[in-house]
Amino acid sequence: MRIAVLMGGVSSEREISLMSGGAILQGLLNLGYDAFKIDLVEENYLTALMENEYDLAYVALHGEFGEDGRVQAVLDILKKPYTGSGVTASAVSMDKVLTKIIVDDFGIKTPMKYTSIDEVEKYPIVIKPSKEGSSVGLYICQNSEEAYLAVEKLKGIDLVIEEFIAGEELTAGILNGEKLGVVKIIPNSGTYDFESKYTVGKTIYEVPAIIEENYYEEAMEIASKVHDILNLRGMSRSDFILSKDGLYFLEVNTSPGMTTTSLLPKLGKLKGYSFETILEKIVSELNI
Ligand code: DAL
Ligand code: MG
Repeated sequence: MRIAVLMGGVSSEREISLMSGGAILQGLLNLGYDAFKIDLVEENYLTALMENEYDLAYVALHGEFGEDGRVQAVLDILKKPYTGSGVTASAVSMDKVLTKIIVDDFGIKTPMKYTSIDEVEKYPIVIKPSKEGSSVGLYICQNSEEAYLAVEKLKGIDLVIEEFIAGEELTAGILNGEKLGVVKIIPNSGTYDFESKYTVGKTIYEVPAIIEENYYEEAMEIASKVHDILNLRGMSRSDFILSKDGLYFLEVNTSPGMTTTSLLPKLGKLKGYSFETILEKIVSELNI
């Protein structure tokens, strides 16, 4: 089987995808697969997918045109099997507003959202693009002045405006339906922003998270429920805040980062899975 690892892409997370893709390619080669990389850029987005020879596309793309159902739609049209979630599941999961509406319907607690900053009753709030990853464009606003400035900076982008929940950051992983565990994220700066996510040493990861057992179980249950509700495939990683009022679900990632500092490989270790074992499970589940 020849595997094309799709990486790069045109989203703001291009550089992260190149790191994830590089690690995945190396892992697949270590496993003995005939794997090669396709670095997608604007000019070759369709031609590279159409003209290369492969039996499986390993989607190592993050964000727009990679994690949001669009590349998946092209692969469906080309009848190429691919890893991860399908078109609708990817599109819905990439959209934080839609995800919130759906999980709310299933009784999962998420931070209260506002449709505009004029509606905000209580600060601080979080303003962020609704279809970005890696905390790109995330603002924590203490008052309406800061909120108007953030909206101005993010002009033209679909946004989520929601209450800021103070608490500990957690993430829970699912792999082919299996609950992997929960990790606590302790950024030195206090905010788990882009820099804290990708600079070695800027964040401490508690693996597994040391929290009350019922919250640990609940985070895994919710991550598993979200995986099922949204019809996700392969792996997913749900992010949470544990506040004094309990767990708040923030979002789900259908193509979680697979760089050396990424969380999904840390979650896999909780089950004794090496990086390669995770890849093997994802590929072999597809029965190609
Ligand atoms: N969006 C990044 C890649 C993550 O969730 O890991
Ligand atoms: Mg995300």
